[in-house]
Amino acid sequence: MASYDVLIIGSGPGGYVGAIRAAQLGLKVAVAEGRETLGGTCLNVGCIPSKALLHATHMLHEAEENFAKMGLSGAAPKPDWKQMLAYKDEVIGQNTKGIEFLFKKNKIDWLKGWATIPAPGKVTVGDTTHDAKAIVIASGSEASTLPGVEIDEKTVVTSTGALALPKIPKSMVVIGAGVIGLEMGSVYSRLGTEVTVVEYLDHITPGMDAEVQKTFQRMLGKQGLKFVLGAAVEKVEAAKGKARVHYKLRKDDSAQSAEAEVVLVATGRRPFTQGLGLDKLGVEMTKRGQIAVDAHYATSVKGIYAIGDVIEGPMLAHKAEDEGVAVAEILAGQAGHVNYGVIPGVIYTHPEVATVGKTEEQLKDEGRAYKVGKFSFMGNGRAKAVFAGDGFVKILADKETDRILGCHVIGPMAGDLIHEVCVAMEFGASAEDLARTCHAHPTFSEAMREAALACNDGPIHS
Ligand code: NAI
Repeated sequence: MASYDVLIIGSGPGGYVGAIRAAQLGLKVAVAEGRETLGGTCLNVGCIPSKALLHATHMLHEAEENFAKMGLSGAAPKPDWKQMLAYKDEVIGQNTKGIEFLFKKNKIDWLKGWATIPAPGKVTVGDTTHDAKAIVIASGSEASTLPGVEIDEKTVVTSTGALALPKIPKSMVVIGAGVIGLEMGSVYSRLGTEVTVVEYLDHITPGMDAEVQKTFQRMLGKQGLKFVLGAAVEKVEAAKGKARVHYKLRKDDSAQSAEAEVVLVATGRRPFTQGLGLDKLGVEMTKRGQIAVDAHYATSVKGIYAIGDVIEGPMLAHKAEDEGVAVAEILAGQAGHVNYGVIPGVIYTHPEVATVGKTEEQLKDEGRAYKVGKFSFMGNGRAKAVFAGDGFVKILADKETDRILGCHVIGPMAGDLIHEVCVAMEFGASAEDLARTCHAHPTFSEAMREAALACNDGPIHS
């Protein structure tokens, strides 16, 4: 048994980052983690492994589509699935070991096992109960499945199973055109799998700017993904290594079905709080099963805090990280804070899609006067040189003050480009501020400047 200033439950991006920040601030810290390795869903079965597979299959796609055009001849590479999975596992290993190293460096104790909270101020891991002045729940989320759909992680899989299929399937039905469905759908489509995405709504990527949604669907369609929109999946029947997805088309209520070797269920995630003992403690929950917290991440029970996917807000690793830092600072007596108005969202397909701040639809709903600056990557020399001219940058700024309200990018390196707008928004910058900032030539980021210019006098290259 030991006594800690802060005991964090969960070592995902929220938990491990919060632990390091708390240790930096001089607190005695432990993290309870039941998985064999640190890093949570993101590092073990989420963000990082999917990026390895997205990278490998993007390289394959480049070789097939563009190498010959660039004068690179020779036999096209073929996917070696076993080696691709080994590469992915190697990447996971490097990252999880990296966190172990950071824990040692920051003198953070890793309590191995699944934690429960028998009483405020106490956390039991295995046979040992520890004292903690503050407990931070950072236990993350799990895939939320549909009624009538049984996951076996072989034929009917969540993202976890999709990252470790024994072979490349000939066909796949993806349920849900959200981030996971499109990222994993892209991976398999590039590997030659026939991918059909069945989505309840009439558009893909709910919550995104509508222009981006349309362009994105068109581009994914060109890459071979098929979409069935406005379709509510009701049941999946699996037998003999195949599965049939039954759905109802919302426009005419007609019953339809599609068969595939693998069905990926990507219909969202729900907070993972099982086994923590929150019921007994009387921790207040929201209607959606999240842990209710105040502005300082405090739950209804004194000394217990919660961050990341278990509380409300976007289920994003970087949102959890920022909350981890904020709660650590609050517990150390500082003024930790997260600016929820400036949290970027990125889809790591090719091209990438990135977004921050308000969408045009949100501004319309709010009745705000705004202006739009748009610039196509076709006008960007660097993008054209690397076959990445399809896509655009869209900046939304206040009509009166010119202050940047949002930015939406679909195109090369969008997930990195978006951050100059994040910084600009954090500082309350105007579109003109961005437009007057020198941008190196030739870079993709010039498209950001051009979109900022388009908010006022107009871009140079279109
Ligand atoms: P999501 O919430 O992004 O998308 C789920 C989709 O499934 C929605 O479009 C919804 O309309 C559809 N759907 C729900 N029920 C359906 C039904 N019965 N029939 C047909 N369609 C149905 O969820 P997703 O993709 O599973 O991701 C879960 C979470 O993980 C999200 O919060 C996401 O932000 C996060 N994530 C983020 C990543 C990133 O930042 N790059 C990568 C992967 C996940």
